Amino acid sequence: MKLKATLAALCAIASFSAYAQAPIVIKFSHVVATDTPKGQAAERFKQLAEKATNGRVKVELYPNSQLYKDKEELEALQLGAVQMLAPSLAKFGPLGVKEFEAFDLPYIFPTKTALYNVTEGPIGKGLLKKLESKGITGLAYWDNGFKVMSANKPLRTPADFKGLKMRIQSSKVLDAQMRTLGANPQVLAFSEVYQALQTGVVDGTENPPSNMYTQKMHEVQKHVTVSNHGYLGYAVIVNKKFWDGLPADIRTSLETAMRDATTFEKAIAQRDNDLAMDAIKKAGKTEIYNLSAKEQAEWRKALLPVQKDMEGRIGKDLIQAINKEAAK
Ligand code: LMR
Repeated sequence: MKLKATLAALCAIASFSAYAQAPIVIKFSHVVATDTPKGQAAERFKQLAEKATNGRVKVELYPNSQLYKDKEELEALQLGAVQMLAPSLAKFGPLGVKEFEAFDLPYIFPTKTALYNVTEGPIGKGLLKKLESKGITGLAYWDNGFKVMSANKPLRTPADFKGLKMRIQSSKVLDAQMRTLGANPQVLAFSEVYQALQTGVVDGTENPPSNMYTQKMHEVQKHVTVSNHGYLGYAVIVNKKFWDGLPADIRTSLETAMRDATTFEKAIAQRDNDLAMDAIKKAGKTEIYNLSAKEQAEWRKALLPVQKDMEGRIGKDLIQAINKEAAK
């Protein structure tokens, strides 16, 4: 009897210590290729987080929509099926936080500095706070870059968009942008874009060069216009309940790892996009056109009404505050 009790006690200790040593798993799902600013930063975060926590945290990366597509991943995060995501700022509308769509307004950020004034300042912090009521904690903003437009015909003037079916992300601002240009916007998950372009389900799209190249979109688009008409960036987000439930020392280590991964991400984003643009040129399948200053002024003028049209959705005050910050 005594032996039985001792054995039971030993078993209990063994299973407790196995439990105590089991790492905390962070499933980090995203939709882009590993070889993109977001993909590389996710890898850097994994390295930093696992090192800083001495292996008490294990970060499992699921790139390229292999686990979830755009819409599903947000649902999965809320349900706790994954713990971390970095969706583009254009994808928070369906979650009910439509203010993030302000980042999609055409030509609202003249430079990256203007953008950082917003993301790193009170406006950016305030927007992340809005996620809390959705069971989500916002940790950081990650960068990608300014978008190019593509199609199988040259896109030099706003009139060239007339009647084109253009793939967009699920943002009403992007919808308004394409309609203002006379195009027919169509929301598609990122993972479906290449095939939709290839089969003619849509005629064209927009994205920074890093996404275009790594998804091989340039192979099925004859023309790219460097218009820099809009910005694409991300919010790194976690399931709030999971995050709040972490031991405090682990959370602090992860916050530091995230800060360092974010610095890394911002340092590589522009270079990655420049390299991707060079690679698209080299592939020789796509004609690349850089808008002249005069042409860009024409695009800007054509797209300016989108700001007014979207005041009701995003908030006049927020748009004004961003414009003010961006002009500093
Ligand atoms: C897209 O869907 O076009 C992009 O937001 C994908 C991404 O995450 O960069």
